[in-house]
Amino acid sequence: MTQTPVRLPKDLLDFSHLSASGLEALLDTSIRMKAEKYRGLELAGQSVALVFEKPSLRTRTTLELAVVQLGGHALYLDQRQTGIGVREPVRDIARNLERWVAGIAARVYKHETVEAFAQHAKVPVINALSDKTHPLQALADLQTMREVFGKTGGLRFAYVGDGNNVLASLLEVAPLAGLEVRVATPKGYEPDAKLLKTAGAKFTYVPAEAVEGAQVVYTDVWTSMGQEEETAKRLCDFKGFEITNDLLDLAAPEAIFLHCLPAHYGEEVAEEVVYGPKSRVFDQAENRLHTAKAVLYHWLS
Ligand code: CP
Ligand code: NVA
Repeated sequence: MTQTPVRLPKDLLDFSHLSASGLEALLDTSIRMKAEKYRGLELAGQSVALVFEKPSLRTRTTLELAVVQLGGHALYLDQRQTGIGVREPVRDIARNLERWVAGIAARVYKHETVEAFAQHAKVPVINALSDKTHPLQALADLQTMREVFGKTGGLRFAYVGDGNNVLASLLEVAPLAGLEVRVATPKGYEPDAKLLKTAGAKFTYVPAEAVEGAQVVYTDVWTSMGQEEETAKRLCDFKGFEITNDLLDLAAPEAIFLHCLPAHYGEEVAEEVVYGPKSRVFDQAENRLHTAKAVLYHWLS
């Protein structure tokens, strides 16, 4: 596969070093790979370590398949094997893994852990979700929007729910993708003010105000992995923030609904929305494979 080379930092921890043209090239690669059902040998004879402190269906599966479809071998290491910070420090794990593998994808509780992997490993490190960001998810989200609307520039994008890691990556990438962002969270769950500002996002505490006229309506769980102790409080604090068909009716007629999944029905979203005509969540999940493949192609090959 011949692709325009993209100038990239060693690691993909967030989007701070990505340009609009870099983003476009990544999405172009992913869209081509999807169309061609691409299989390659870019990682032939190489291994990639998938270091996961937290559970995962989509990220683990798609990264593992992406490695295999590029001819490589994926090595899944959960916390029982690595014992990050318990059995040995992250620096030592990084200094071991770099001797054996071509790259490391890490899903971690604390963002500092993935930063430490990047700092101490000579090989590229991909953030497979931290408490702060989830860049791989945002790439699949953008691909899904581009497939439906033919572009991302100028799309009216509404996020309703928790000001969490998934939203942070979407806010980071929004200016590169040209999204017009509106965000609604309950009081106390706002995203980082700087991210809102650089995204040029409009913020409100009223879900209907965010959703009105939007072409993309997005939500994520109210309680992220690692926040389970706060579940009861969050269920109270997020009352009125569920995406229902009534709320979705306020969006533009052509609007689509996205959710990174897993979904908690009757909490952040009604089941009939995820399985309704506006939902594109399973296309979005499929695109996790193609974008993971594009990321590995550009960062590791
Ligand atoms: N959306 C997402 O990252 O899903 P997993 O937690 O299953 O990987
Ligand atoms: N915000 C969620 C995303 C899961 C894909 C979490 O961090 O658990």
